[in-house]
Amino acid sequence: MLGVCYYPEHWPESMWAEDAKEMAELGLKYVRIGEFAWSRIESAPGVFHFDWLDRAIDTLAAAGLQVIMCTPTATPPKWLIDLYPDILPVDVKTGTVRGFGSRRHYDFSSENFFREAMRITEVLGQRYGKHPAICGWQTDNEIACHDTTHSYSTNARSAFQQWCRQQYGDVSNLNTAWGNVFWSMEYQNFEQIELPYLAVTETNPSHNLAYRRFSSDQVIRFHNAMIAILRQHAPDRFITHNFIPMSDTQTDNAMLAKELDFVSYDNYPLGRTDLFFADASTADFKRYMRTGHPDYSSYAFDQSRGISNAPFWIMEQQPGPVNWARHNPRPEAGMVRLWSWQAFAHGAATVCFFRWRQVPFAQEQMHAGLKRADNSPATAFAEIETLFKELQQLPDLASHDVKASVAIVTETTAQWVTEIERQGDSYNQQQVEFSYYSALRKLGITVDFIGQDSDLSQYKLVIAPCLPIVQPSFIERCQASSATLVFGPRSGAKTSELTLAPNLGPGLLQQLIPVKVLSVETTRPDCFDALQFAGKTYQSARWREELSEHSELTTVAHYHDDSAAIVRYNNCYYVGTLTCDALLEDLFTELAKQQGIETIRLSADLRLARRGQLNFIFNYSAEPVTLNLPKNTRFIVGSDQIKPFDVVICH
Ligand code: GAL
Repeated sequence: MLGVCYYPEHWPESMWAEDAKEMAELGLKYVRIGEFAWSRIESAPGVFHFDWLDRAIDTLAAAGLQVIMCTPTATPPKWLIDLYPDILPVDVKTGTVRGFGSRRHYDFSSENFFREAMRITEVLGQRYGKHPAICGWQTDNEIACHDTTHSYSTNARSAFQQWCRQQYGDVSNLNTAWGNVFWSMEYQNFEQIELPYLAVTETNPSHNLAYRRFSSDQVIRFHNAMIAILRQHAPDRFITHNFIPMSDTQTDNAMLAKELDFVSYDNYPLGRTDLFFADASTADFKRYMRTGHPDYSSYAFDQSRGISNAPFWIMEQQPGPVNWARHNPRPEAGMVRLWSWQAFAHGAATVCFFRWRQVPFAQEQMHAGLKRADNSPATAFAEIETLFKELQQLPDLASHDVKASVAIVTETTAQWVTEIERQGDSYNQQQVEFSYYSALRKLGITVDFIGQDSDLSQYKLVIAPCLPIVQPSFIERCQASSATLVFGPRSGAKTSELTLAPNLGPGLLQQLIPVKVLSVETTRPDCFDALQFAGKTYQSARWREELSEHSELTTVAHYHDDSAAIVRYNNCYYVGTLTCDALLEDLFTELAKQQGIETIRLSADLRLARRGQLNFIFNYSAEPVTLNLPKNTRFIVGSDQIKPFDVVICH
């Protein structure tokens, strides 16, 4: 299924019917509307204007389209801010108010905003909850985008104090848990507790982690309250939310998704590549400048499928150059179609494009749409025509599941811990996790993302690239599993309060493997040491742990002085360093072989994804490739000659 994001309030009403007709002709089924339209829906307190919105919905429905309605809470109007100035959040880096004039200018701890947001949700739910043209709802918009999870406001401070009281009961428990005796940071009562920002130098890591947990809880409280209202008024419609990359939410994504029917993801491969790979060499960067890295989007797709363990939607798909990255190149011809197919291959149910037409005014006037501002079709338009035709040739995708025998264990807390306590500037949890993921994907392996509480029984290989705080129940699940287990550096090193594990790292993991981390060093990424694995030399850099010796440990990889870098005990591996990608690929090839998991060494720019019986092959390079496929392969899209930036679908 395909869809599009549309803003009827941006265009003369005389254009709506033709727009709707063209959308339907293009094969689009869904239209998302309303997420920024609060000022047009309610022009002053309690003064509502539904006539235009009713007509817009009717016009779309008359063309056979189904509407996804949004709560407009990402853009509180000016009159509301003037009425309740405490809605505005306060920047944690400067302590200054983040003002009106863009979007997401609200504080999750403002009770005034909470009440107003629920009020507008209630009003919309009542009016449109059972509307026949509305098939589902999107809550808010990219709820934590623009770094809006954290605020330095007085509202946030008193809500945090309250949260601390609930968590710790007595302030002396909090002092002990955080180690506040250090630097005389002890509090005498909860009302004294500060937010962990704008101090002279670094603030206490435990304090920071508590504030992040609190902030995440605030987002979830807000979001769940909104969902509860929508459920009441639209009991048989779906409710989703459009996530940004999981690392950017600063919210526990699994918790955020819990009450939703499914997760949606906003896919901007080029904008995101520009940010995520900012440190790449010029040659590496340029190679993917107009395609995105072959594993970047699928990394987010697999995470999206994982957090609710269900098919997900792409609610926004980049159609051309965007406006918000450091640089905004155009996609190579064919990439919009390729990204869409890649989303389907990794478990998407629907792909919607952002946006129907480029808007000639305001902040996003340089952002492409499917149509240009003069209403002519932009480059991506023809790619979607092709995509729609191809989709018709496919069997029902819903009956084809993505099945993985390899899982990456991830959680938002790991990101928080490593951001709070970097220890080395070149440790970036997302990039570490991505390098593990990408190594697996280069071997053609399908990967699930799971949490510590997930069932491990379907997996043969379970990998935790970075899991500093380990739950006892996860250890039990690991002990009961016959999978090969791999833990990356830092795993198990911390208590739940972000203090050192009492028995040293890897803490509770010592129940799985008898190794201790005696010391940790971090180094510049370009100052690497040599590492030997299976007779070949690789690199260790950025993070290196000194591992204890134990007669029952097998050294899998070692440094020039024979000290261990990777050790094994039974089915459990502990990797005590960050390494080059080549080592991860070779290690995983070996572990996959031991577990009977099929691997295929793909060339750098080819990727393979499987959904049920269907194989999807993606060519991210500018060169055609002849595929070496079995004789009885049946092609649905393409042939064994895959063109540049093209897709082959076969079974
Ligand atoms: C998304 C956002 C959209 C639009 C888009 C531009 O992050 O949800 O509203 O701003 O980016 O690329």
